[in-house]
Amino acid sequence: MTATPLTIVVLGAGKGTRMKSDLPKVMHKIAGRPMLGHVLDVAAATGANQIAVVIGPNMDAVGVGARAFSPQAQIFVQAEQLGTADAVKAALPVLKAFTGDVIVLYADTPLLQPATLERLRKVLAEGAAAAVLGFEAADPTGYGRLLTDANGTLTAIREEKDATTAERQIQICNSGVMAFRVNDMAAVLARISNDNAKGEYYLTDAIEVIATMGGRAAVVTCPESEVLGVNDRGQLAEAEAIFQTRRRGEAMAAGATLIAPETVWFSHDTRLGRDVVIQPNVFFGPGVVVEDGVEILANCHIEGTHIGSGARIGPFARLRPGAQLGTGVHIGNFVEVKNVKMGQGAKANHLAYLGDGSVGDRANIGAGTIFCNYDGFFKHQTSVGKEAFVGSNSALVAPVTIGDGAYVGSGSVITKDVSAGSLALERSSQVERPTWAEKFRLMMSKKKKAEAKT
Ligand code: UD1
Ligand code: MG
Repeated sequence: MTATPLTIVVLGAGKGTRMKSDLPKVMHKIAGRPMLGHVLDVAAATGANQIAVVIGPNMDAVGVGARAFSPQAQIFVQAEQLGTADAVKAALPVLKAFTGDVIVLYADTPLLQPATLERLRKVLAEGAAAAVLGFEAADPTGYGRLLTDANGTLTAIREEKDATTAERQIQICNSGVMAFRVNDMAAVLARISNDNAKGEYYLTDAIEVIATMGGRAAVVTCPESEVLGVNDRGQLAEAEAIFQTRRRGEAMAAGATLIAPETVWFSHDTRLGRDVVIQPNVFFGPGVVVEDGVEILANCHIEGTHIGSGARIGPFARLRPGAQLGTGVHIGNFVEVKNVKMGQGAKANHLAYLGDGSVGDRANIGAGTIFCNYDGFFKHQTSVGKEAFVGSNSALVAPVTIGDGAYVGSGSVITKDVSAGSLALERSSQVERPTWAEKFRLMMSKKKKAEAKT
């Protein structure tokens, strides 16, 4: 990282009409985090001294989101969408008294990597007044083209609508990411006109302005996948797919086995330990930490959960926010856990709902057990002590406590606390009538034969 101070301006005032959404475009999510959050993460990772976010009028939710993702972000409102240069002007209060590098990012370009911004800054440190991130587009339609001279120096960026036929043949396109090291950014912006096909103030025209001021502009390139701009839901899905491919590769590189990587979906913040094995079709929502040696069997949905080392989860398990599973916990098929802490070695292997409470070390929760945590108004806690054994098909009506080592007989509806070491049974006694079955069969078959004759 260079020692030069850095200001990052994130542009997010565009309406994003092609998303056809009530939600502002930049709040749409990639891997569970709004695109704006991804871009602000990059800004923070680059060590920006100041971060400005430009939003449109009536976009209060975006401003609130921006401050949540990056408390240092300063929010500016661009009153009218007059173009990208006009949008940067909205952030002039942070640029006026600033000397250093200024990087402009678009909030709808969420896959950018901090290392790429470092490469742009390096070019500035070597003497360029501007550096533009370009890429070779598979289909350049709609992008601004980078015009270079015989020495490879960037002379201008031509928006497609303003380009000649020859200029449109150029494959190297503008990603929108631009970096500047100029004495007076306000003076550069002031010299940009709106004399073009769209009648907008283009930030891309800064390159020609800087050239007339004697400054040199350079191009840095990156793969297209890193600068995909999201303008519609199709591109949102494309960006998601690129993110997931990247994240799966990182997980495997860090020592996790993904048996069918293309079927595992990560959140932006999923953390996996070493020697974690993940079978096909596993979805991670936000806030999941998986410690070393955990095995996640096929078809699990997991969010807001901490999974201790050596645990075995699934197949078909649902772990919801607040599940805290200790070392070696076993959660089996069709078990849902929400807001429950499970001690080491505790097991719930089949068909259960454990919501709001705790399960002690090595306790065993039988098939069909339900923590009845909700009375229609309030949620209540269930506490199962260590080494307790809850028999199959039991309903534990919260608030209730099962003591350490206690047994709950199968099929019980437990409404009162059970003391440590005792057996609680709540069901009627079994009745047995010897030879009843034989008599019953005889009677019924006679009845059936009689009915068949009529
Ligand atoms: C822009 C570039 C183009 C580049 C392309 C890459 C310009 C003039 N053109 O075109 O060279 O190839 O991105 O995707 O910059 N915004 C505002 N206020 C405005 C207008 C835009 O905040 O008044 C924001 C938008 O929210 C968006 C970004 O700036 O995040 C880019 O605007 P957009 O209109 O999408 O520019 P493009 O036509 O895609
Ligand atoms: Mg765009």
